[in-house]
Amino acid sequence: MYSKEAQRILFERSKELLKTLPAEPADFNQASERAWELGNIIRYHEWRYYVQNDPVISDFEYDQLYKQLEAIEAQYPDLVTPDSPTQRVSPDLTETVEQVVHLTPMLSLDNSYDAEDLLDFDTAVKKLCSLPPDAEVEYAVEPKFDGGTIVLIYENDRLARAATRGNGELGDEITANMRTLRSIPLTAGFSKYGMAKVELRGEALIRKDIFEKINARRLAAGEVLFANPRNAATGGLRMKDPREAAGRGLEAFVYQLGYAVDESGKNILGAFKTHHQTVEILGELGFKIPDPAPEGAGDGVCRNIAEVIDLCNYWQNQRDDYPYEIDGMVVKVNSLDLQEKCGSTTHHPRWAIAFKFKARQATTRLRDVEFQVGKTGAVTPVAKLEPVQLAGVTVQNVSLHNEDFIRNKDIRIGDQVLVERAGDVIPYIVKTLDALRDGSEQPVVYPTHCPVCQSPLVKPEGEAIWRCENAECEAQVLQRMIFHTSKHAMDIEGMGESTILRFYKLGWLHSIADIYRLDYKQISQLEGFGQKSADNLEKAIEKAKQNPIYRLLHSLSIHHLGQKSSKLLAAVIGHVLELKDWDLERYQEIKDIGPVLAQNVYNFFQNEHNVELLQTMEQLGVNLSQTEADRKPASASEGPLLGKTILFTGTLSTLTREQAEAKAAAAGASISSGVSKNLNILVAGEKAGSKLKKAQALGTVLIWTEAEFTELVGA
Ligand code: IVH
Repeated sequence: MYSKEAQRILFERSKELLKTLPAEPADFNQASERAWELGNIIRYHEWRYYVQNDPVISDFEYDQLYKQLEAIEAQYPDLVTPDSPTQRVSPDLTETVEQVVHLTPMLSLDNSYDAEDLLDFDTAVKKLCSLPPDAEVEYAVEPKFDGGTIVLIYENDRLARAATRGNGELGDEITANMRTLRSIPLTAGFSKYGMAKVELRGEALIRKDIFEKINARRLAAGEVLFANPRNAATGGLRMKDPREAAGRGLEAFVYQLGYAVDESGKNILGAFKTHHQTVEILGELGFKIPDPAPEGAGDGVCRNIAEVIDLCNYWQNQRDDYPYEIDGMVVKVNSLDLQEKCGSTTHHPRWAIAFKFKARQATTRLRDVEFQVGKTGAVTPVAKLEPVQLAGVTVQNVSLHNEDFIRNKDIRIGDQVLVERAGDVIPYIVKTLDALRDGSEQPVVYPTHCPVCQSPLVKPEGEAIWRCENAECEAQVLQRMIFHTSKHAMDIEGMGESTILRFYKLGWLHSIADIYRLDYKQISQLEGFGQKSADNLEKAIEKAKQNPIYRLLHSLSIHHLGQKSSKLLAAVIGHVLELKDWDLERYQEIKDIGPVLAQNVYNFFQNEHNVELLQTMEQLGVNLSQTEADRKPASASEGPLLGKTILFTGTLSTLTREQAEAKAAAAGASISSGVSKNLNILVAGEKAGSKLKKAQALGTVLIWTEAEFTELVGA
């Protein structure tokens, strides 16, 4: 796609341009040249990011380039071309979906489930090709993506149309939505290969980690969750508003060149020898193509069926490592000549077969729904299922998230439900099979009172979750103790859930303070403990007493007070009990502490039980004073400068050096001690000297004024 040399030039030009941005072109000619160059540069970076998954500039730098192009196009609208990177998202809504006819029908695939099926397939292929039984046929093996099928047409190197698979002959037109995917080039050099019009098949899907984030966001916003990445993807293909489609995190892979004609309309697929070669060309033209083999293990081309079986088995066991949802592998005869010899039925090609992985979905009966109370009182409905095997694991408890989830899916006790366990994702209920109901099913009745302490449940305005507000609720007390000792909080080894439950039942634990006055002699006499375990537990608890206070604050289970906000708080107090004298405003003065969290922490420290609890803990030796570790600024896990190293030099006019460094750290940057190749940004104040010269000489460091810096991070 891009030669090494071309990449070097594009990269260096990007860096040069970034140094001068924002810039205003002097006249139309200069603007036109600049827009053209920026278009090329941005397309290159989009390819690095969306197709290669290996960006060479930061998101921030990319945005700078993009904004500059937008600014030029806004000033000179004549310079906007249809394939400009700014023209992907159209604000126009699709009111009616148009049906379109594919250039060649898209068939289905026949299925296979084990080595034997694959051997049968190989035998059949050899027969169809009149090859002797001991001949070796070469196959291309690819992941079978589990997303939404897309069919793309390019005419004269431009994306002309995109459609869904539909029934294989007719699909829905979805061009506007597909234009928003930056892994789909708006222009691609098919003409280089003599192709004037082509039809490509591929799949639009959402990477598993991105899907998790989208669902977490939806859960927090009280929106309906997507059952799985496939549903989120196929829904995304058909959005009415391309701006919404653009927000779904969709990516597109192409895996087949289904049709290709030259200018005279002559089929020129015959010019290529193998399927693999055509896919490589698509990669070369800037498309994202399947990565079928484990790292470094080749390109998915197998010399014979035995190698195919190995690769299929490998991915069957390893499927969770694949970043996208795949439900099998597709095995294709590699030689296009032999493919032609095999031909197709009306339903599927005889030269290809899908190898389907073991099922991860199963149906089972929903016996009951239980309601569990969490550490902050959140009441979560949990489905109790008749135990069922899903890809090797027995599943019987599945979270139903909240009341809306149950209502939207119309889940009833006694229903047959479809359960799915996809990869590391926790199992979930996809849907109920309402056609199988016999009338005996019962609606899930949401409790009005806490199932443990019977106090009335409340649902705060705008939230999706009912809560038990009784802080003394036994369930909450237990969950808080379990959280208090957990790895993220006080990190007390040997004090896990089962130990806490055991000590609780023995009457030794009533609140988290009791953890610090355990009788180790008694413990050493418990069955399964002994002197050594008791000693180890004592050591772990003594160590935890010395924890920095950010750990302690986090361990108190104050709603929304996570590790990051605990650090922010710990950095500005000398002693935890100072907080009992803080008023609400004081919390809100801390950057990144919002009004809800401020209220929660305030309420906690206004409650005298909580203050007494902390006083008792202090008497028992738990550290409540700020430590060295608490004074370190929290390193941000997001922000415009995430992952960047930055250095300040010269005299700054509006900020002290400390303030500037704190702002940079809060924006995700790490502070560098000198100018080196690893430095990304140098902010040069007045009278900057040798550091500035050195950075300029390196040529790889972005040089900013103080104003540029404060514009980004806020003054
Ligand atoms: S080739 C002639 N390759 O599986 C059929 N299909 O029934 C050409 N699929 O919905 C299909 N990954 O979208 C092919 N690497 C891959 C695939 C793949 C997923 C889907 C395809 C279609 C179904 C085929």
